[in-house]
Amino acid sequence: MSATPTRPDRIAVLVSGRGSNLQAILDAIDAGTLPAHIVGVFSDKPSAAALERVEPALRWSASPKDYASREAFDAALGDAIEATQPDWIVCAGYLRILCDAFVERFQGRLLNIHPSLLPKYPGLRTHARAIADGEAEHGASVHFVIPELDAGTVVAQARVPVRPGDDADALAARVLEVEHPLLLAVLRLAVAGRLAERGTTTTLDGHALFTPLLLDSAGALRAPGADGPV
Ligand code: GAR
Repeated sequence: MSATPTRPDRIAVLVSGRGSNLQAILDAIDAGTLPAHIVGVFSDKPSAAALERVEPALRWSASPKDYASREAFDAALGDAIEATQPDWIVCAGYLRILCDAFVERFQGRLLNIHPSLLPKYPGLRTHARAIADGEAEHGASVHFVIPELDAGTVVAQARVPVRPGDDADALAARVLEVEHPLLLAVLRLAVAGRLAERGTTTTLDGHALFTPLLLDSAGALRAPGADGPV
């Protein structure tokens, strides 16, 4: 008798701060709109508010300053994550750069949400930089993580307008509103087994994804120019 194939629905989440993206995941799981399990929430900030959003048994945190090196911290973090046997590891407001060995260890299972329309504005202060440059549009991206910072294949993006008079906080709040549905939409593809990264190729339903999917106003993902949602 052959075993029933299991869905890749075990999600580990990495956080450093407030955790509103984590909360969106938890709420969607509770509402039955994301068929997944949170297997652990991991932080480089033991005081992160995000950790309080899950029961203590699901929390792991440690201070990098208690480790001899960046590599040693990431190895301990990686061991803790691996122990929970996740199918996906999602950086949702994890603000520490991951070392190459960590990224290689989890390559193909490691996703990040970043507050810009990558490849524009990798790194920090994305909202202030977009305003300073006079951008008409800004947004968020969910991408696979590779060793180069914020440079992995972008799976999907959500766009928002930059409005006259916006400051960084106002723009960040507008972007955050689309981050949550964007992350959930990508995770639905991921836990359904529709998304994969093999080497440098990202696939959706087995077909190479050449351009990022776009979040529409109904919260669905579409290929650019396509009639219907994916
Ligand atoms: C989000 O805006 C996320 O895109 C950003 O941190 C915020 C976390 O908010 N991530 C990065 O800047 C990663 N480079 P949250 O803690 O409320 O989810």
